[in-house]
Amino acid sequence: MKVQRAETFGHFHPRQAAMAQAQAQAQAPGSCRAGFCFRGWHALTRAMNLVRIPGSRIVEVGRLAFATPGVEILAFGESDQPSPLAARDALVAAIDAGQTTYPDVRGIPALRAALAAYLGAQHARPVAVSRIQVTASGMAAIGIALAATVRAGQRVVLHSPAWPNCGNAARLRGAVVEDLPLDPLPDGRFRMDLDRLAGLLPGAAAFILNSPNNPTGWTASLDELAAILDLCRRHGVWLISDEVYSTLVYDGGKAAPSLLDLAGPEDRVIVCNSFSKTWAMTGWRLGWMVLPEAAAETIADIVEVTHSGVAPFAQAGGLAALADTGFAAGFRAHCARGRDLAGAALAGLNFVRYAPPDAAFYAFIGIDGLTDSLGLAKRLVVNHGVAVAPGVAFGPAGEGHLRLCFAQAPERMERAMDRLRAGLRAELGAG
Ligand SMILES: Cc1ncc(COP(=O)(O)O)c(C=O)c1O
Repeated sequence: MKVQRAETFGHFHPRQAAMAQAQAQAQAPGSCRAGFCFRGWHALTRAMNLVRIPGSRIVEVGRLAFATPGVEILAFGESDQPSPLAARDALVAAIDAGQTTYPDVRGIPALRAALAAYLGAQHARPVAVSRIQVTASGMAAIGIALAATVRAGQRVVLHSPAWPNCGNAARLRGAVVEDLPLDPLPDGRFRMDLDRLAGLLPGAAAFILNSPNNPTGWTASLDELAAILDLCRRHGVWLISDEVYSTLVYDGGKAAPSLLDLAGPEDRVIVCNSFSKTWAMTGWRLGWMVLPEAAAETIADIVEVTHSGVAPFAQAGGLAALADTGFAAGFRAHCARGRDLAGAALAGLNFVRYAPPDAAFYAFIGIDGLTDSLGLAKRLVVNHGVAVAPGVAFGPAGEGHLRLCFAQAPERMERAMDRLRAGLRAELGAG
């Protein structure tokens, strides 16, 4: 099997690239060294009695893409734009200044203060610095929120289609995950049935809300958020609000409606956010939580035994990114251009259901009659040189769809969308 060198595509995803190489080598004939061929690997994992969660189907397509030369990869949730220069400079300066020792577990005071000011300016209610906890990524924030609120055997409600990590993080804690499928509308949009949510919440430990949503772009209105908050209050359910796409909105507003517009410091609400998306800082692993006042110290204790704070130089970079308001505005314009290009390329494909999303940076494309999105995504890689995520990666409600990330440079987007259009026509035998 031909395998590209990791460096060639490492710009985007070095970890997946390395895994792809390992897998490709393990699968190559005669490469089954010391029993570590790919099939044997799984058997060994089982024999070791490890806790297992379902693997990511996005990574499955990604591995194939990395092992296939020349593929345009739109399958992952990140942009091809570099992080803000100010952030990169601040990181280097912080290291040069010796900021390499253990940090304050709650986050460096300057970053916490800047986040509180930033969020207070963006949303309807002020946010006290004491409620800010810096975390090593948005994913870490969600994991810590679950660790603090959910015990083994308890129920966690999650709407779908959903980015798979949140449900898997809940499963890892021994929770029973209950699905609330969003209702697909004929125009390709989605809506949440709040009556169904009301039916699921009694007795649940937590509801994980992701608005703006990956993959659909569904974004709750302020009224819907108020109704959701009301239901969670009524049933004593923790509301974990994953708002990592909050600033990537295309209606000219500052940010999507947020629990920070509504909930007070006494509510059982944890808002999770990240530097990954707004500032194109996916590799920095930097995020934050806004906590109820009374939970802050307890959750800091959980952070202590989770990752014990975040690299201070990464936090210095985050602080500089926050100050660089021009970057965030430019990045949003970059995504808006990608969104236009995706919409133009998909227009006129009569087997496609697609509505440009109000927020986030994904096109979630419904394909008439599609029942095997993973198979189609793999054929698009191998036969047409374009990698998109299969809808089934986002749960059964995502089957019949493909997802692509349009936060890419226009030339790449155009090339990738040409391939996707041609590939869909050829693979589906449609016009
Ligand atoms: C819905 C959602 N939540 C959280 C995250 C986590 O982001 P990060 O861990 O990079 O901060 C992602 C990343 O793709 C996401 O799509």
